Amino acid sequence: MAILASPMKASYDMSKKKILTVIGARPQIIKAAALSRAIQAQFASQLEEILVHTGQHYDENMSAVFFEELGIPEPHYNLAVGSGSHGHMTAAMLSGIEAILVKEQPSAVVVYGDTNSTIAAALAAAKIHIPVVHIEAGLRSFHKAMPEEINRIAADHMSTLLFVPTKAGMANLAKEGFEIEVKGKATIDAPHVYHCGDIMYDNSLYFAARSKEKSVLLAQLGLTPEQFILCTIHRDSNTDDPIALQAIFEALLTLIDQTGLRVVLPIHPRTKNKIETLLSVAFQQRIAAQDKLLITPPAGFLDMIALEQHAKLIVTDSGGVQKEAYFFAKPCVILREQTEWVEVVEAGAAILTGANQEQILDAANLLLNRSIQTRSDIFGDGNASTFICEKILTTL
Ligand code: UD1
Ligand code: UDP
Repeated sequence: MAILASPMKASYDMSKKKILTVIGARPQIIKAAALSRAIQAQFASQLEEILVHTGQHYDENMSAVFFEELGIPEPHYNLAVGSGSHGHMTAAMLSGIEAILVKEQPSAVVVYGDTNSTIAAALAAAKIHIPVVHIEAGLRSFHKAMPEEINRIAADHMSTLLFVPTKAGMANLAKEGFEIEVKGKATIDAPHVYHCGDIMYDNSLYFAARSKEKSVLLAQLGLTPEQFILCTIHRDSNTDDPIALQAIFEALLTLIDQTGLRVVLPIHPRTKNKIETLLSVAFQQRIAAQDKLLITPPAGFLDMIALEQHAKLIVTDSGGVQKEAYFFAKPCVILREQTEWVEVVEAGAAILTGANQEQILDAANLLLNRSIQTRSDIFGDGNASTFICEKILTTL
């Protein structure tokens, strides 16, 4: 396995607390931007961050683009694990991360969310007694067929500091026996659980202004604000089941016919592969023939924010995108049976439809006429990263 170290960053300042952050999938790279930014701006004299990229996502537009546009430091290590089965990827990450941890001896390992990179890093660290800091802890879909549910439950139970974005997440952890009142020294057996708001809300606030300045995608695609629907699809339950995948596309094609709106779909590589391998040539031709369905390469984050801010409606199975829809007060059809972000559905801003064609259409038509009022007490105040850095410094 390739462990690529950047020689530029070989020496570390011993007076600082060293944390090692493991990222791998697109949303984790974006989330890491918030913490790295807070470290650089406010805690540079106290915290040293070593970045490890597992290489779970590797296409230029799934990884490198975010480092460039979001100002994330170049990773010190890239394990270049690439794609594969769950076991293959996780095992390769586990042994690669362990070797780096033994060499670096950080005070803590920071992991985000619920991907295979998350579980691998948490397991590698916990087994050799390095405290795990889990950002985006406590979320549950209560559906263990979802690979992410296994990853997030396991990561939470291996963590010493759990940073929870929402009140629902706090309640989930309390039900699993976590002590919610913070007391004593944080250890893996007596972890500290903090309700801190959503680190992606920090990012959306921060990058919205940059997106306005820099994104030209709407103009490039000839899109008129409020005259298009934004869609993303990548969950295995939607992409790997041809019936589900076809039902979603049938719904999008019908929605275009019914509303006359264009649908912009920045396509995840998984979804692109599955369309080509699972759907009939005739159906692929129907998709290609609809010129109001704009299937584009995955977007950069600044472009994605621009699309989200100007869409009339968002249709997605992404955890991050359904939340961002709410941040920008956009109605959202969630192409899933459950969500971890229950507050958004309870607020009337989103409807769960699964991959059911009729339900997608009903929800879309209902939401197209709904104006969304956002509440300020759901995702925090946009300073989650500062809070997290302070707690890492004072509790570990
Ligand atoms: C992963 C995460 C999921 C997260 C998503 C964010 C797990 C189990 N899943 O799902 O929680 O929501 O990332 O996008 O960790 N591929 C490429 N190029 C890339 C990356 C992927 O072509 O740069 C293709 C490969 O065919 C690969 C497939 O996409 O097999 C799936 O990638 P993988 O990382 O296994 O899962 P995601 O669906 O991306
Ligand atoms: N995103 C992006 N470009 C895209 C699709 C998504 O920048 O083409 C961003 C999106 O704005 C959000 C994050 O990626 O911040 C969500 O990642 P993804 O949907 O891949 O994973 P999930 O959040 O479901 O784990």
